[in-house]
Amino acid sequence: MSTQPNDKGAQAVIHGLQERIQALRALIEHHARRYYEFDAPEIPDSDYDRLFQELQQLELSHPQLRTPDSPTQRVLGQVLQGFAPVAHTVPMLSIRTETDTTEAGAREFDARIRRELGLAPEAAAVRYCCELKFDGLAINLRYEHGVLAQAATRGDGETGEDVTQNIRTVRQIPLRLQTHSRPCPEVLEVRGEVYMRRDDFEALNERQRSLIAAGHRQEKTFVNPRNAAAGAVRQLDPAIAARRPLSFFAYGLGQVQGWGGALLQGPTSHSEILQALSDWGLPVDEHRQVVEGAAGLVAFHRDIKGVRDHLPFDIDGVVYKVDDRSTQDRLGFVTREPRWAVAHKYPAQEEMTVLRAIDIQVGRTGKLTPVAKLEPVFVGGTTVSNATLHNEEEARRKDVREGDTVIVRRAGDVIPEVVSVVLQRRPPGVGAPFDLVQRLSGRCPVCASPIAREQGEVDWRCTGGLYCPAQRKHALLHFASRRALDIEGLGDKVVEQLVDLGIVGTLPELYRLGVAKLAALDRMGDKSAANLVAAIEASKQTSLARFLFGLGIRHVGEATAKDLARHFGSIDRIMGASLQALLEVPDVGPIVAQSIRGFFDQPHHREVVEQLRAAGVQWNEGRGVRSDTPRPLAGQTLVLTGTLPTLSRDEARERIEAAGGKVAGSVSRKTHWVVAGAEAGSKLEKARELGISVLDEDGLKAMLEGPAQEGAT
Ligand code: IVH
Repeated sequence: MSTQPNDKGAQAVIHGLQERIQALRALIEHHARRYYEFDAPEIPDSDYDRLFQELQQLELSHPQLRTPDSPTQRVLGQVLQGFAPVAHTVPMLSIRTETDTTEAGAREFDARIRRELGLAPEAAAVRYCCELKFDGLAINLRYEHGVLAQAATRGDGETGEDVTQNIRTVRQIPLRLQTHSRPCPEVLEVRGEVYMRRDDFEALNERQRSLIAAGHRQEKTFVNPRNAAAGAVRQLDPAIAARRPLSFFAYGLGQVQGWGGALLQGPTSHSEILQALSDWGLPVDEHRQVVEGAAGLVAFHRDIKGVRDHLPFDIDGVVYKVDDRSTQDRLGFVTREPRWAVAHKYPAQEEMTVLRAIDIQVGRTGKLTPVAKLEPVFVGGTTVSNATLHNEEEARRKDVREGDTVIVRRAGDVIPEVVSVVLQRRPPGVGAPFDLVQRLSGRCPVCASPIAREQGEVDWRCTGGLYCPAQRKHALLHFASRRALDIEGLGDKVVEQLVDLGIVGTLPELYRLGVAKLAALDRMGDKSAANLVAAIEASKQTSLARFLFGLGIRHVGEATAKDLARHFGSIDRIMGASLQALLEVPDVGPIVAQSIRGFFDQPHHREVVEQLRAAGVQWNEGRGVRSDTPRPLAGQTLVLTGTLPTLSRDEARERIEAAGGKVAGSVSRKTHWVVAGAEAGSKLEKARELGISVLDEDGLKAMLEGPAQEGAT
């Protein structure tokens, strides 16, 4: 009698589940299409994973509700129009994702493998090959007789797109395999990930931003390296693709023919496959490691987590693969994924949150930066509540409004940024489009001076100069920074109080600070006050270049300050130099010259210089550089990497600059020489890739001396 209502109840539950399952399938299909086909995701990957997992869970607990067309039963994505379809001989599968980001995720995988293999608890540990999970786009490279014949995207796993022309522009991908140390099979399909390094991505977006600022409205910035890489691979014009700097890592095989004959023994483990790929000249990541058992997996996960922020590229986790190939075969596949591999995630670098307000911050040179105040969100391993919107143009182009749901990205050491708005979640009655001038009523939010934007610039600035407390704080911090006057102990907290309490208003006032005044500040004892006074005293002995740099003249960075110091030799000559005279300094163009002239044309800036001199700040002055002084490295750009036997980084840099050369932070096609010492890293690798000449310290010294003077005695 009582079964009736219960049955009804059960039916209602099943009905509810069915509805949820259908809704999940529709959502997943939608977001997969946004991600795979349009490279324009609307939700962060972590949310997508959560939806997918919920569906997997429901289908697992209610197998009767699973249907063959569920997204869990196949790999998503469709062939784009415009590229020829390529049928994959061996399907390009995906791997199961473990989203428990703690070490339990690793233990669980090992436990499952042992269960599937029927191993007793006392049986030996399973060997795994651990790799990074690169965040890019999966590619199949087909080599026939060692020559790259075709490159294809994954597509739906069965059929991908022919992107050979674009892939051929990726310099890291060999067009012909190296077979001197190891012969290669007749047909070899290499599976791997095309990705974009973070520095290449930042530079690309910087370039895009200036194009947009210069009026190229059809250009856009990219939301993350993965999207930029995917966009480049699917660029119909290979010339454009070639300008988007892509990189590649190989991690597996597709079809292989002609392997296993008498001549050519096929590898028996995954780690040997990776070694073979590397021997053939394909880039294989160096972090890969063969480990034993759960403890090995846990240690790998932890170690990589520690270095994740310092990697030059994004990863969203690590991948564990059973190393032995015959064991892999025993484990086999479940519909969509191999049982012998898993991707173990890290906390996502992109998350969704609500933008509460847009604040405007004032930088050292008065630059006004819109900053998003966020509902705190855990992203990339920390809680983020502020993210940059770069400038007004960017904020407007992304159409960011207060109250919007946004995607925030924090990767590596880069400052968190708002990458996009989730328009579907825009609440009714959301704030108006961002308008910086209107918001500020045309005045600096800190000092109320008028704001201005120079022609052709994207940034608005406060015109208050050192009258503005915000700029004054930045100016003091910059003056005290390591490469300027190097005053240790004069950090954010101290400067904040010194300015807010009206103790220090100008740079020279720093030199009037006594222990008593400093010791009265918050979080400052007698000891640290005395240390700070001593550091301020010590900073009086400086160099003209440091002093000039420390003044914080717009467009005068360290290198320009050095050039000016070398060229003129004295501060009075610099302060008195005409535009024409300034333009004679190497690398000083009209904008820089005008900025220097404009700075010293203001009487209060000259006064600051006089007062600093009167306070005892001093340096050696010289006669300046005669135009016939030899500059053997003029016009050359060098990159330093590793530890040189006798010269420190700073010494090497100073000597290169004294010889007229420039030192850059990263290797690009514009680099002329790379100077490498012990333990040189990726910069040396990049130099080799780009075919840039490499020098050791002796080579550098020889260059610094310049070519032997003909006829010299
Ligand atoms: S192995 C059958 N290894 O992550 C195993 N995949 O779902 C095939 N990925 O589409 C994948 N790094 O694009 C493998 N070291 C790695 C990887 C990796 C990134 C990507 C790949 C694949 C997805 C896994």
